[in-house]
Amino acid sequence: MTVTYAAPGRINLIGEHTDYNLGFALPIALPERVVVTLRPDGSDTVVVDSADEPGEAVIPLTTAPGEVTGWGAYVAGVIWALREAGHPVGGGQMSITSDVAMGSGLASSAALECAVLGALTTAAGVTLDKVEQARIAQRAENEYVGAPTGLMDQLASLYGAERHALLMDCRSVDVREVPFDPDASGVALLLIDSRAPHRHAGGEYAARRRSCEQAAAALGVDTLRDAQDWGLGALDKVADRVDAQRARHIFTENRRVLNFVAALEANDYHEAGALFNASHASMRDDFEITTQQIDLIAESAVAAGALGARMTGGGFGGCVIALAPEDSLDAIMSSIPTAARAAGFDKPTLIRARAAAGAGPVPN
Ligand code: GLA
Repeated sequence: MTVTYAAPGRINLIGEHTDYNLGFALPIALPERVVVTLRPDGSDTVVVDSADEPGEAVIPLTTAPGEVTGWGAYVAGVIWALREAGHPVGGGQMSITSDVAMGSGLASSAALECAVLGALTTAAGVTLDKVEQARIAQRAENEYVGAPTGLMDQLASLYGAERHALLMDCRSVDVREVPFDPDASGVALLLIDSRAPHRHAGGEYAARRRSCEQAAAALGVDTLRDAQDWGLGALDKVADRVDAQRARHIFTENRRVLNFVAALEANDYHEAGALFNASHASMRDDFEITTQQIDLIAESAVAAGALGARMTGGGFGGCVIALAPEDSLDAIMSSIPTAARAAGFDKPTLIRARAAAGAGPVPN
């Protein structure tokens, strides 16, 4: 028996760094996915190779955090987290292929975790609901790989739906499909890859998370979500001005997610674009996770006719997304690479993106 399982990357439309503050986010799943093929062999190791990496990783089923590093850690982490949760895992030969761009802020690691988890549980005859799958994959990333990320990427990969965005309430872990089909209104969702890799397990992400936790503590609540409705004036109680600034991004960003959903429901892409711009400004000025290169791309998109543009993902590089009327596409496609090159940056790549289905088995 061979099991093949695929899981997509994602674009977060809006709601950045809100997930670990138990707020709102609105991602879509992408057509691009990680595909894992598993041939169970009854042994007590998983031997895994990847089309994108040299060599193979040999992972004992009894693996523990710290033992496997590099790309193999994502696979080992899922094996470990599944067993920690009390689920059976069998050995076998595993192969990975992927067309999700790595290091672009499109959640290639969550896609890998979810595809590995799907293959292992299918082979073992175990059925888990999507929230439990997401939590196990997140635990693999947090505790085995060592990146203190939230739950959005895994939920997006698992819940993806064609022509729909996924409104997540990260406190109740409720995911609601929201129709998202800009093409039907003559608007394109553009995905612009700066080709400057973002740093994921890096210190800046953890530092932002720490600042948010400190701000929550100064407000006397467990998470910033608990103070969401207090108004921005409440932040005067946060003595550390940087922590207060980070919290302001979270409060305003949560509000923008809900306003963005309302704009989609009203088919108002001008308002949706304005919310993209406001989100980008907040990430640039309050959360300070953009870069000059990313700011330049977002500004150039708007200058060339986009309704709005913002960085998507964890930050410090990666991708910008823009909502662009079809008649502005030619101008945007030509002006962004020109502006980036003129400023001495790599030439970005631009593609039109669409919401796609979530993770699932691939018929053999
Ligand atoms: C990364 C993390 C997510 C989320 C985003 C920022 O993608 O994996 O959990 O925090 O950054 O919104």
